[in-house]
Amino acid sequence: MLKSRLYRSTNVYNFFMKSLGYERSIDRFLRSVELDLSGPVRILDAGCGTGMLGLHFLERFPGAVLTSTDLEPRFLKTTVANAAQRGLDVQRITVGVSDISHPSRLQLPAGGAMELAAGSFDLICVGAVVGYASSTESAVRELVRLLAPGGTLLNLEMSESPTGKFVSRRYSYSNITLSLMQQVLRESGCTVRMTRLSLVHLPAKFTRVAVIARKPT
Ligand SMILES: C[S@@+](CC[C@H](N)C(=O)[O-])C[C@H]1O[C@@H](n2cnc3c(N)ncnc32)[C@H](O)[C@@H]1O
Repeated sequence: MLKSRLYRSTNVYNFFMKSLGYERSIDRFLRSVELDLSGPVRILDAGCGTGMLGLHFLERFPGAVLTSTDLEPRFLKTTVANAAQRGLDVQRITVGVSDISHPSRLQLPAGGAMELAAGSFDLICVGAVVGYASSTESAVRELVRLLAPGGTLLNLEMSESPTGKFVSRRYSYSNITLSLMQQVLRESGCTVRMTRLSLVHLPAKFTRVAVIARKPT
């Protein structure tokens, strides 16, 4: 469930992500993540917020298409506006309202529902959202189910540093531990690595850590 008052104004959230250099530092970090993907990469950004994760990869993989979802429809509008601002073709983006507890179920803006098929994404990015699921463990398993064989799940998760914990509390974000998250991913058959952000990734380094899982081919 969406609890925090801080998400009520997407414009304020978007402004802070950009003006404090947070979005740029995330972009810098994502550039450093090597991904063995080519061709028409199918990307899902679940709980997209202002869209920064999915839009980074849409820009990086020219043949890619992106599905961006969020519980809050205004964030979907912000994502599309940010795509246009980045000079990206918005026709490459499908948006839908979705609760991360059931990430395959989408409500489309024009009305009607859509069910994402198992194995239909080469890259799934999530950031600071699985902790909002009614069960983080089942949300993570569900995301792995949506990954194609050989696909990558990149979770730019809230870190367990004092700053990460402080911000999580402020945003009513209650997640499982990173070690349990890695265990759930391994139990789902993925190989997993955790990458800490470095000083060049400040300010994002204060609050985020990357958990990167690869589904076997
Ligand atoms: C901290 S922001 C993260 C945005 C982006 N993923 C990032 O990495 O910066 C959390 C986002 O999760 C969304 N959210 C909150 N509860 C949700 C839920 N139950 N299902 C899907 N999205 C949710 C909020 O609307 C917000 O856009």
